[in-house]
Amino acid sequence: MAASNGVFYHILGLATCVAFIYLSFGDIDFHFPEPKMSFVARNGTQFVVDGKSFYVNGWNSYWLMDQAVEEHSRPRVRLMFQTGAKMGLTVCRTWAFNDGTYNALQVSPGHFDERVFKALDRVIVEAQRHGIRLLLSLANNLEHYGGKTQYVKWAWEEGIGLSSSNDSFFFDPSIRSYFKIYLKTLLTRKNHLSGIQYKDDPAIFAWELMNEPRCMSDASGDTLQDWIEEMAGYVKSIDKKHLLTVGLEGFYGPTCPPEKLAVNPGEWFSTLGSDFIRNSKISAIDFASVHVYPDSWLVNAELNEKIKYISKWVISHIEDGDTELKKPVLFTEFGLSNRNKDFDHSHRDMFYKSVFDIIYDSAKKNGAGAGAFVWQFMVDGMEEYNDDFGIIPDQRPSMYRLIKDQSCRLAVLRHGQDTVKRNFNKICD
Ligand SMILES: *[C@@H]1O[C@H](CO)[C@@H](O)[C@H](O)[C@H]1NC(C)=O
Ligand SMILES: *[C@@H]1O[C@H](CO)[C@@H](O)[C@H](O)[C@H]1NC(C)=O
Repeated sequence: MAASNGVFYHILGLATCVAFIYLSFGDIDFHFPEPKMSFVARNGTQFVVDGKSFYVNGWNSYWLMDQAVEEHSRPRVRLMFQTGAKMGLTVCRTWAFNDGTYNALQVSPGHFDERVFKALDRVIVEAQRHGIRLLLSLANNLEHYGGKTQYVKWAWEEGIGLSSSNDSFFFDPSIRSYFKIYLKTLLTRKNHLSGIQYKDDPAIFAWELMNEPRCMSDASGDTLQDWIEEMAGYVKSIDKKHLLTVGLEGFYGPTCPPEKLAVNPGEWFSTLGSDFIRNSKISAIDFASVHVYPDSWLVNAELNEKIKYISKWVISHIEDGDTELKKPVLFTEFGLSNRNKDFDHSHRDMFYKSVFDIIYDSAKKNGAGAGAFVWQFMVDGMEEYNDDFGIIPDQRPSMYRLIKDQSCRLAVLRHGQDTVKRNFNKICD
């Protein structure tokens, strides 16, 4: 960063200087200065920023909005972005929903807590200050932070006659309109710090309709397909600047050819009502999203088997992006559980490296493999937010190094060897 400070200051003026000095203080910040953050766009299978391919070395911290509400926990947000920036990470995926639970953003249908909206405003501004963009997820298939179950409860409370299934989230017209009210409120929210509406804010990398949508009550996949089409169209009718993805786990469904179905971890996985290729092909969907969880998919397998399987899974989805979809593919969650028998941290290093290598090989050839997001990072003192995947990067030197190396080689693809050397020779040696 040091080499480019001169230009940077002149362009940005005093206000940003102060922020910049603050960020750099005591640490080498590993980010290429963007005088003005631009929107991430797409050209075929590539993400593009300022005319050059853009890659994601990313992570998940689902808790950012939640922690930004109250003053005592707020510093964790800045600390997390500082840590991400030091590792050269480019995008953070986080929840932009909290429906009906503690510190809810949406307290009841169409009613929002301004305090929590201000917290989300802060998260966005803080990310931008650290040169990091956000992939914001808009709903949860799971119950965590409300999810589709909460929407269904709300409808019951209003006396709307529903089928008993939680999947009425996807097909009930009243619930669809609840969700659209939330979408519109969020997309048109004016950030109280920056004055920018979310739909016009380039610090937002993209929107994700839902975390891990499944609609098991309709295994044909038609119900979920219809919901995605309607909601994707609705988002685009308000916001044409941001990219949009579904948030799928990536299972191949009924319309996929047999050789693709054979890549699923088991036959059951094609019956969940999602259908990776069909869902991701929808024209308003700009890129595909895939999750990677070998521990829950291959319960009794050895580490080597898991890594082998995961390579096949990741390669198969990148190939879909290259040939069928002609869109970038992001692995928006990947993780290895510490509850495995004989777990050792070196297993995670091996697993992560296998994912990173495949992404890099694809990116090097201008393929659809555009990046991956670790599930999940935290900062110190957040045990109650942990699951069996959480990592505090500063406490895991070999992992830290691995992630930084991935940032470095992806930065070389984007910026060229000379530029990376010139700016970051101490980091990317
Ligand atoms: C998109 O990519 C193609 C192939 O690399 C290139 O020829 C074209 O100029 C790009 N279009 C834009 C708008 O960048
Ligand atoms: C809906 O989800 C909740 C939470 O997972 C569960 O308790 C409830 O039984 C579900 N309802 C139906 C009808 O499946």
